[in-house]
Amino acid sequence: SSTNATGTEGATQTDKKITLGFAQVGAESGWRTANTKSIQDSAKAAGVDLKFSDAQQKQENQIKAIRSFIAQKVDVIAFSPVVESGWDTVLKEAKDAGIPVILTDRAVDSSDTSLYKSFLGSDFVEEGRRAGKWLLDEMKDHQGPVNIVELQGTTGSAPAIDRKKGFEEIIKNNPNLKIVKSQTGDFTRAKGKEVMEAFIKSAKAENTKMDVLYAHNDDMALGAIQALEEAGIKPGKDILIISMDGIKDAFQAMKDGKINLIVECNPLMGPQLMQIAQDVVAGKDVQKRILTNEGVFPQDTAEKELPNRQY
Ligand code: AHR
Repeated sequence: SSTNATGTEGATQTDKKITLGFAQVGAESGWRTANTKSIQDSAKAAGVDLKFSDAQQKQENQIKAIRSFIAQKVDVIAFSPVVESGWDTVLKEAKDAGIPVILTDRAVDSSDTSLYKSFLGSDFVEEGRRAGKWLLDEMKDHQGPVNIVELQGTTGSAPAIDRKKGFEEIIKNNPNLKIVKSQTGDFTRAKGKEVMEAFIKSAKAENTKMDVLYAHNDDMALGAIQALEEAGIKPGKDILIISMDGIKDAFQAMKDGKINLIVECNPLMGPQLMQIAQDVVAGKDVQKRILTNEGVFPQDTAEKELPNRQY
């Protein structure tokens, strides 16, 4: 509550500063860092008291953080679930305590949708489709097989499941397009590099060519680019690279000719989250599903777009 000039409590229900407990996935990618900054900056700007916790990509840590927010009696809880499954128990605890929950960025697979008030984030299936559509068009006159290797995001996470699903749904329209290798790189640069090194090694041993890399995020693509260059393979030329997010480093790589397509995923959801949090606490109705706006950027847009990137 706020205190007025005479030192007495002057707060009413409406000017009460709300407390938001936010359980973040971790700091695995450039996207995530931008997402965290957006949430922290917007909380400050909106006068929201933010309790922030970083789960280091572990579900158990997120569950602990949510329980601690419940114990602290925060006004509202928001979180970006590291994986889709296994949230019902803790979400039920929040509901029983009368604390509303907002999902940001990633979905849960709970069938009881009354366990959260709203879900703010991208349509990951659509992002996968956008990547697939570009490739389908790019390969429309291509003769013979197109070998695609895939770097998946965190196993069991909504973006990994959905980006794969949307992409596969589209590329199956051309039987030449085949995913020949697919593994998780956990959304990090280090893992992306490591898995790409293994792909390169096995492609060599099998004497097969990798025509396309489909990476579920920019960090893994950037790690893979390093592995390719170290192996003397030209990213963007010898192998087409499709990536997702749209962080500055990736736009720079695309400007340098090393990435062929970036499907944008927008991390700057802080301002919208603060609005939803305040509305929920004030007892207003909020939309159950709120989508973020996103674009598709082929290589020839890189130079013009790079200076505009906000993350
Ligand atoms: O959930 C969004 C995904 O998580 C981003 O695409 C990825 O970079 C991040 O780690």
